[in-house]
Amino acid sequence: MQQNRSQRSMAQIRNERLWRWRCQWAVVTLAAIGIVLYNAAANLWLLRPTNCFYSTTSLPQIIEQTCEPCLETAPNSIVVDDPISRLDLNLGRWDNTRSYKLFDYAAVGDMYVDASASRQVALATQSSIERLHELLATTAHWSGPVSVAVFIVGDELRLLRAFTMWLFRCQPELYSRMAIHVATPGLKLAVHGEVPSWARNCDAKPSLMGKGEPDSAWRSRHPYPQNHLRNLARKNCHSQYTFLVDIDIVPSKGMAEELDIFFTKTPKCELCAYVIPTYELDTRVANFPVNKKALLRLSKNKLAVPFHRRVFIYNQYASNFTRWESTGGNESLATHVSHNVTNFELLYEPFYVASDTVPPHDERFLGYGFTRNTQVYEMFFVGYQFKVLSPVFTIHWGLQLRRNSPPWREKQKFKNNKRFETFRRELFARYRRDPFQLLKKNLETKKL
Ligand SMILES: *[C@@H]1O[C@H](CO)[C@@H](O)[C@H](O)[C@H]1NC(C)=O
Ligand SMILES: *[C@@H]1O[C@H](CO)[C@@H](O)[C@H](O)[C@H]1NC(C)=O
Ligand SMILES: *[C@@H]1O[C@H](CO)[C@@H](O)[C@H](O)[C@H]1NC(C)=O
Repeated sequence: MQQNRSQRSMAQIRNERLWRWRCQWAVVTLAAIGIVLYNAAANLWLLRPTNCFYSTTSLPQIIEQTCEPCLETAPNSIVVDDPISRLDLNLGRWDNTRSYKLFDYAAVGDMYVDASASRQVALATQSSIERLHELLATTAHWSGPVSVAVFIVGDELRLLRAFTMWLFRCQPELYSRMAIHVATPGLKLAVHGEVPSWARNCDAKPSLMGKGEPDSAWRSRHPYPQNHLRNLARKNCHSQYTFLVDIDIVPSKGMAEELDIFFTKTPKCELCAYVIPTYELDTRVANFPVNKKALLRLSKNKLAVPFHRRVFIYNQYASNFTRWESTGGNESLATHVSHNVTNFELLYEPFYVASDTVPPHDERFLGYGFTRNTQVYEMFFVGYQFKVLSPVFTIHWGLQLRRNSPPWREKQKFKNNKRFETFRRELFARYRRDPFQLLKKNLETKKL
């Protein structure tokens, strides 16, 4: 009996041991599987796609961005609505004389690339800070991409920063198809600085007065590098054609669309430049002329005159306004070539649309005098044919009168006059032509 009991307990004990051993194994196996699964999950997590999405809804538009690789990209509205704040003034690129630093795309709208690809013509322009507000008028009727180069001295960068923020908030459609570039004297003259409060206020008017009026003595110490800015704006255009204007030249209504149609059906012409006639408009005129016919009515009443007719007639004379006006505006509304320029002359400086393979603007001309017309002059040497378009036109608000320019401007003109001597000798050497017998004649005859 006793033996029987002990035999049973022996069997029980063996059984229990077997079960314990099985349990231990199960625990170890589960732990091992757990570790393997954990490792796999951790690896998957580390190898996950590095796309991160974020959106900020506090801004005028919802901005969604994908970044790769994922750096520190916390939602950052500062970066989005204040792009100029990121401008590193230690970078940029130098001009040929290391006098100016140029910054491409200090700010660029998110539709600039698309607009450049889908439109035939990009508008390029340049400005100093105190005239930059004119950009709103210049682009009022322009629906295509806009590339603008801005000259900044001292602490004016804070004004450009503010204006960019204001545009982003208050003119989002315009901003979206715009690219802003910056040029500044290279001697560490530009600094960031406090942004004025109007930057975030759409009820406010941007106040862009920097160190002084456009003609102030302060400005005279920092010659406005017009041609650097023109090249900067031009070279950052990505459409087939570029239309370079001064900041106060306003395209007629629907011009971007009209030019799209015109250039789509016009065979590519390597050496063609399409001139857009420019008129000055009396500021008493309340409304921008809706079309050529309306413009010619104003012209008849002496409320509109060809650009620079009083200040310097040779500026646009070769465009032949008499001929352009001779239709009375009774013509096709579709943009077409009205006539060829047949009497090109020295100092002719029309605003024109062309492929940006035209010669660059010579950056040795600083400040005023010989900046734009020297470039047009070189086009003539290259063999460009100038064709005047109709019924599109551009407007300069305000009739211009011949007035005495400040002494510093005269000084700049005098210097540039001397540089022109070198320039025309170079053209002669390069193209082996002297169409105006300038090397023989003196420049005296046409005084600027
Ligand atoms: C303008 O065109 C007319 C022909 O319509 C011509 O007689 C005249 O000489 C031209 N003037 C200029 C300045 O080209
Ligand atoms: C233009 O048309 C108007 C009438 O519509 C006419 O009076 C005028 O003479 C025409 N002008 C020209 C230059 O054909
Ligand atoms: C303009 O000049 C070109 C040659 O460059 C010529 O083929 C064309 O017929 C001219 N156009 C007009 C309207 O005179």
